[in-house]
Amino acid sequence: MIYLDNAATTYPKPVSVRNAVNYAMLHYGANPGRAGHDMSLKTAEEIYRCRLVAAELFHAPGPECVAFTLNCTAAMNYVLKGLLKPGDHVVTSCLEHNAVMRPLRALSEKGITFTVAQVYPGDNDATLNSFRSALNEHTRLIVCTHASNVWGIRLPIERIAALAHLYGIPIAVDCAQTAGILPIDMKEYGYDYLCLAGHKGLYGPMGTGMLITEKGSQLATLVEGGTGTNSISYEQPESMPDRMESGTQNVAGIAGLRAGMEYIKRKKPETILKQEMELVRYMYEELSKLDGVVLYTQEPDERYFAPVLSFNIRDLPSEETAQKLNRYGIAVRAGLHCAPSAHEYMGTIHQGTVRACPSTFSTFNEIRGFVSSVRKII
Ligand code: ALA
Repeated sequence: MIYLDNAATTYPKPVSVRNAVNYAMLHYGANPGRAGHDMSLKTAEEIYRCRLVAAELFHAPGPECVAFTLNCTAAMNYVLKGLLKPGDHVVTSCLEHNAVMRPLRALSEKGITFTVAQVYPGDNDATLNSFRSALNEHTRLIVCTHASNVWGIRLPIERIAALAHLYGIPIAVDCAQTAGILPIDMKEYGYDYLCLAGHKGLYGPMGTGMLITEKGSQLATLVEGGTGTNSISYEQPESMPDRMESGTQNVAGIAGLRAGMEYIKRKKPETILKQEMELVRYMYEELSKLDGVVLYTQEPDERYFAPVLSFNIRDLPSEETAQKLNRYGIAVRAGLHCAPSAHEYMGTIHQGTVRACPSTFSTFNEIRGFVSSVRKII
């Protein structure tokens, strides 16, 4: 199989990740933070190591700011539902995934309003202006994706963060599609809430994600329970990460995530970005030579795009194209990619798109095989 569905989850995972999961099952078999025996302490150390690696990779204020979650969606729900109150207003972008749009829609039933800012690929000034115009005196949060999971379009997130802070508004960034690929520096840009998937560009197992923030104690909790700390109290701890981490942790997943992030650090996100962008540009160039292929964006340039490409074959339903590709041994995702808003923006809400996304393991030969299959389908 030529696997180009890496925007949904990366495959394969590095050998070191598989080994770390296996090792955790064998050696980190006790519940971390729940006992004083050696096995429990060793497991807790492994969890802490993962926090350290994450804090270093994203320049977080400290390892205690890293809370492990089930996925990026859970992290986003913790922020939106933990922070916003009736009467609050939120600014978001027109490219959001349902991880943002559905919680915002649910919150709108509770008196929270939101404005959708337009994004102008290739014109960061215009994008910034649309965010600025969307602010009002009740704006309590800016929440937006770092890059669209459908179009790869990058938002000028550093400038949006500066804008937010100019008005004293916090910013939450959905880094599901960019962590491990694009630079994310909390220290330099002061992102207030980073929501991350562990299983995409960080190469961890599925079922891992993170919320990284110094401001966790300001969030109301959605889940309360045992944390292994201050058990005499019936109150949920205020401090991070305990506040956001009730119940037993996904130890094997977190061990794998630690190995995934170490892999990224060794390989360097900038090298991975360069490599994947070369593949996506090649894909774009080859597809644009084929009569019948519809491409929706300009040629991806890494200043404005992350390595994700959506296309269609004429007016063929995207699911049909993906099924045909599957018969040629190509794995891609079709449909709306859980981001209807991003499709409304591009006029593809009915057809959806076929989405191809390389990983650091993808090769030019695989892309050639993919393009040749598209050609045969046409
Ligand atoms: N959010 C993931 C995607 O874009 C699953 O496919």
